[in-house]
Amino acid sequence: MKIAILGMGKIGSGVYEYAMDMDTIAVVRTFDIKKWMDDMTTDIDDIVNDPEIELVVETMGGVNPTKEYALKCINAGKHYVTANKQLVSEAIEELLDAAKKNNVCLMFGAACGGGIPYLKNLYNAQNADKITAVGGILNGTTNYILDRMQTEGLDYEQALTSAQALGYAEKDPASDVDGLDAQRKLILACAVAWGLAPKAEDIPVSGIRHIKPIDIKYFKETGRVARLIASADKTEAGVSASVEVHLFREDASECAIHKNVNFAWYEGQRSGRFSFSGQGAGKYPTAVNVIQDVLSIMKGDGRMLKEDTVIAKASAERERCFYIRVKDHEFEAIEKIAKAVKREDGYVLSETIPVKTEEMHAMMKNMCGAFFAAIE
Ligand code: HSE
Repeated sequence: MKIAILGMGKIGSGVYEYAMDMDTIAVVRTFDIKKWMDDMTTDIDDIVNDPEIELVVETMGGVNPTKEYALKCINAGKHYVTANKQLVSEAIEELLDAAKKNNVCLMFGAACGGGIPYLKNLYNAQNADKITAVGGILNGTTNYILDRMQTEGLDYEQALTSAQALGYAEKDPASDVDGLDAQRKLILACAVAWGLAPKAEDIPVSGIRHIKPIDIKYFKETGRVARLIASADKTEAGVSASVEVHLFREDASECAIHKNVNFAWYEGQRSGRFSFSGQGAGKYPTAVNVIQDVLSIMKGDGRMLKEDTVIAKASAERERCFYIRVKDHEFEAIEKIAKAVKREDGYVLSETIPVKTEEMHAMMKNMCGAFFAAIE
């Protein structure tokens, strides 16, 4: 198969290196903003108009100009493999429509879980079973930060600086620490599992930016461990999905996921829960997942979405009990649902009665610097 690679950064170069080692894949053209290799172009039309190129791999990231490039390549009849979760989560219907019209494959296994072969297995599973829930620890940066805060006593800023130094965080760490990266990956998992791609604005999201050592101390005292979880259930009406920190009992599988490792799972009605853990980012793991998609297409198994996948409404209706930490003067606002368990350093730490997830997110949005987590 003759392929082109758009974006020769870390992941694109990994794909290039692996493809060069394979007899069955030939990289005939690469694209980047500046030309620094012989076979490289800075003009996307050189790739779009080259009839020799059968498949395009995109590892550039972002939506602009990648959406335009993706549609051009697909409309020129080229299969498309991308690691770009932002692009696929925002433009899934358009990309799939174009792929269907042009009878080409669209695959994006590396866009959720990096190196973990999650989405393709999820697609295969939904063919054979009814998937009832999807989710997991889908962001390595936040897992790394939470893990170091809980195992080594680092504060949030120290742990974030360390994650950035190790290259785990996105260029703008806000998308990691505020949960948006996990939210995008969750949209992809829902689309693959149910053919329903929830809109980002319908998935309440809360990250780890406001977590403090006082929270960690309380989790330890109560035998709990915090992990950022993106999860979705199939409901009668569609999808119920959210992203927030969850507190697990120490013997839960999630607590054994340390550093920047990801942990992605799905639940089948007949088969029960399956989970996959491993590197959710990084040059070589992600490149291997991209290559797997290319090989699937070559084998005639290049499906990752149901034909009738659509953008769907979502809610976050699941009721849960929550841990909440607010400033002393803010406690009155949550007193109806929460019982204060501790007062310390000007804060009230409390636990709630069962509350709808979307209501909890809405309530906490207006409380500056407060932190909450779902109790498992
Ligand atoms: N910043 C992402 C993470 C990289 O930390 O998981 C892979 O999507």
